[in-house]
Amino acid sequence: MPEAKDKNRSQQTCTDIDSQGPFTYIELESDQEKNDATEMKVFSSEKALRFTESVIREMTRVCLKHQGVNLAQGFPDFPAPEEIKEAAIKAIRENINQYAITWGAPALRRAIAEKFAWYNGVTVDPEQEITVCCGATESMIASLMAIVNPDEEVIVFEPFYENYGPDTILCQATPRFITLHEPDWHFDEEELTRAFNTKTKAIIINTPNNPTGKVFSREELQIVADLCQKWGVVAITDEIYEHILYDGAQHISIASLPGMRDLTITINSISKTYSLTGWRVGWAIAAPHLTASIRKVHDFLTVGAPHPLQAAAAVALRMNHDFYHGLARTYAERRDFLLPALEEAGFHVYPPRGAYYIMTDVGHFGFKEDVSFAFHLVEKVGVATVPGSSFYSRPSLGSTKIRFCFPKKMETLEKAAERLRKLK
Ligand SMILES: Cc1ncc(COP(=O)(O)O)c(C=O)c1O
Repeated sequence: MPEAKDKNRSQQTCTDIDSQGPFTYIELESDQEKNDATEMKVFSSEKALRFTESVIREMTRVCLKHQGVNLAQGFPDFPAPEEIKEAAIKAIRENINQYAITWGAPALRRAIAEKFAWYNGVTVDPEQEITVCCGATESMIASLMAIVNPDEEVIVFEPFYENYGPDTILCQATPRFITLHEPDWHFDEEELTRAFNTKTKAIIINTPNNPTGKVFSREELQIVADLCQKWGVVAITDEIYEHILYDGAQHISIASLPGMRDLTITINSISKTYSLTGWRVGWAIAAPHLTASIRKVHDFLTVGAPHPLQAAAAVALRMNHDFYHGLARTYAERRDFLLPALEEAGFHVYPPRGAYYIMTDVGHFGFKEDVSFAFHLVEKVGVATVPGSSFYSRPSLGSTKIRFCFPKKMETLEKAAERLRKLK
C-alpha cells in the first residue's frame, strides 16, 4: 500500500489476506493516489483467494490449444435426444420466454415429483418440496448457503467432485474430509463416526460417484443415515449419475431410508441423464422447512433457470422408462471399450460401478506427480485427462492418479485409445 503522507487522514487497519501481516487502509484524496492504490489493492475476497480455478475446466482449455481428445471434462460429444430438443424449440416458439416462477415452472416440478416417486421411491409435494435451480451446481451451493452457518462443519468424502470444496468455503464452513479407499473406495466407519460432532451441519454424498465410479451400498448409506439422525445432520446427496450403472449395481437414494426423508436434500439435474450439460437445469428436493430456505437463497443467486428449457426438461423427465435402460447400456459399451484400452496402454484401472469416469493409477510411469503426467498426456500424446490431486484436500493422496471420462462417441474413444497406445 502507498505510505500515508498525511497522518491526519482517516485510516482503518485490515487483515492482510495475502498473509504478509496487517496492512493499513487509507482514504485517498488525489486521483494519482487513487490510481496507485487501485494497482496495489487486493480486490479478491478472502474467500475467492482460498481456491483456484477449476482444474477440469482448465484442462479443457489446454486440450483445445493442443487439439487433443478431451477425456477431461465430463460432457457428451454426441447429441441430446431429438424429442427434448424439439420440446425446447416449441417452448420458445410458444413464447415461453419470460421468467418462470422463481422456484421452478409447475409442470417441471410435477414431473420431478413423479419421477422421484417411481425411480427413487420417495413421494414429495411439488408445491413445497422442490426448487428448480441452474443445474446441480447451483442446487448444491444454494442448499449449503441455505442451511450452513460460518464455522459449522460439513463432511465431504474424498476424492470429491471438485466443486464441493469451494462450495463449503463460500459458505465459510469448515470441511471435514473422509477418505474413500481404493480399490473399492470404501470408507472407514470409525473415522466417519469420529467426524460427526455438535458443529456438523451437513454431509455431502455423491452416488454414483465422480470421480471413482463408486455406488454407495444400502449398508453404507444406513451408516451415514444413523449418524445423521443421531447428530441432527442434513444429508445433501448429489445423484446426477443415478441412471448410469454397471454390472447390476443399484442406485439407492438416502432419502428413501427410514427417518431420512426430512433430513435429506436430494440434488439432481438434466445434465448427465439427458446429455444436456449446457442447459443448466437442475433441482433440489427437500422437506418444506429446508426448501423454504433454499428457495430464498436461489432467488437471490439466479432468480431462475431458463424457462423454455424447464418446459423441455418436463418432457425429458416423462420419457419412456426404456430410455434409461438404453442409456446405461450405451455407457456400459463405452466403459467396456475404454477399460481394456487403458490397461493395454499401461494404466492400472479402477473399474467404475456407476457414472462415466475411470480413475487410474499411474505411479509406475515414473513422472514426478500427476499434474506433470496430465500435461504430458495432453501436450505430447494428445489426450486431456484430469490430475487425481484435484479431487483431494491433500494433493498427495491423488498424486499418482489420473481420471479419464467417457461420455463420448465411440470414434472419439477409439481416437484416444490409438493415441494412448503411443505411451507404451
Ligand atoms: C458429481 C457432479 N455433480 C454436479 C455436476 C454438475 O452438474 P450440473 O451440470 O447439473 O451443474 C457434475 C458435473 O460433472 C458432477 O460430476
